[in-house]
Amino acid sequence: MTRNLSQSFPATRLRRPRASAWSRALVSETALSPDKFIWAMVIREGENIAEPIPSLPGVSRLSVDRAVEAAREAKALGIPALALFPYTSAKDRSAGATLAFDPDNLMCRAAQAIKDAVPEVGLMADVALDPYTDHGHDGSLENGEIVNDRTVEAVVRQSIVEARAGFDIIAPSDMMDGRIGAIRNGLDTEGFQNVQIMSYAAKYASCFYGPYRDAIGSTGVLKGDKRTYQMDPANTDEALREVAMDIAEGADSVMVKPAGAYLDIIHRVKETFAMPTFAFQVSGEYAMIMAAAQNGWIDETRAILESLTAIRRAGADGVITYFAPKAARLLGA
Ligand code: PBG
Repeated sequence: MTRNLSQSFPATRLRRPRASAWSRALVSETALSPDKFIWAMVIREGENIAEPIPSLPGVSRLSVDRAVEAAREAKALGIPALALFPYTSAKDRSAGATLAFDPDNLMCRAAQAIKDAVPEVGLMADVALDPYTDHGHDGSLENGEIVNDRTVEAVVRQSIVEARAGFDIIAPSDMMDGRIGAIRNGLDTEGFQNVQIMSYAAKYASCFYGPYRDAIGSTGVLKGDKRTYQMDPANTDEALREVAMDIAEGADSVMVKPAGAYLDIIHRVKETFAMPTFAFQVSGEYAMIMAAAQNGWIDETRAILESLTAIRRAGADGVITYFAPKAARLLGA
């Protein structure tokens, strides 16, 4: 640090610029605005249904027609994009995750309906097999092992099906090695040169995904854990290697996930690569804030805005969050 070396009390009083709201506004370094949010949204089959998810208070699984309404709301609030996640019942899951490759599956129908109604809103598809497997893993399970290369072939097929349905951003969350390059190649071969890839590049094997697994119907289905493919929370250099490889393979943007407990990773990734860098404020982060707020233990509004500000301050260009519509409203949208 070569700056401000000479500052000393009493000539310098750091409380002076903090003394009034107008001055605090002028010296504020990090701004939140709805155009930096991607709205995480869970969808389900049916019509005119908004089914509350108990472990995500305030979030509901939306039928396609209601998701279209939500997309209109996103546009009105200035939220540029939605990230969709499908609930799948146990009976529609299989070892081979066949529903993932069905061009008429829930994700594809939702994308078509939303793109027809509100083409201006960007649509991001999570790519991984976990909503569709009967074991809840993101990849193919063979002899107790999640096999890499066969899973890569599967997520390439899934990506092409989703791109064809109208998704603008393919977001692979499966953490297989080599999937970004394979997906880029697959998309290009099928003529989807303009479909973006946002890589879940540094994705940790985290307990904070718990409520999400309820939301998509994986709770009770998942056998074991995801530590052979998701990253060890203890690691940071490894995150840079993951990100470097995904950039080399063609990722347009990279993601760190979860967000709040991994601010150091967000910071290092942004500083090192100067890439569009996103962070996913995951279901457990949402649930913790809501649970504490509902108990009267923290102030909900302030907790939402402070958590999002911290993620942006760490270096995230944008945040994928279940709070998107609520936060946009709090910001006056
Ligand atoms: C799985 C996937 C997960 C999330 C997004 N995609 C969970 C997991 O890896 O088990 C988590 C999202 C959240 O917790 O909000 N492909």
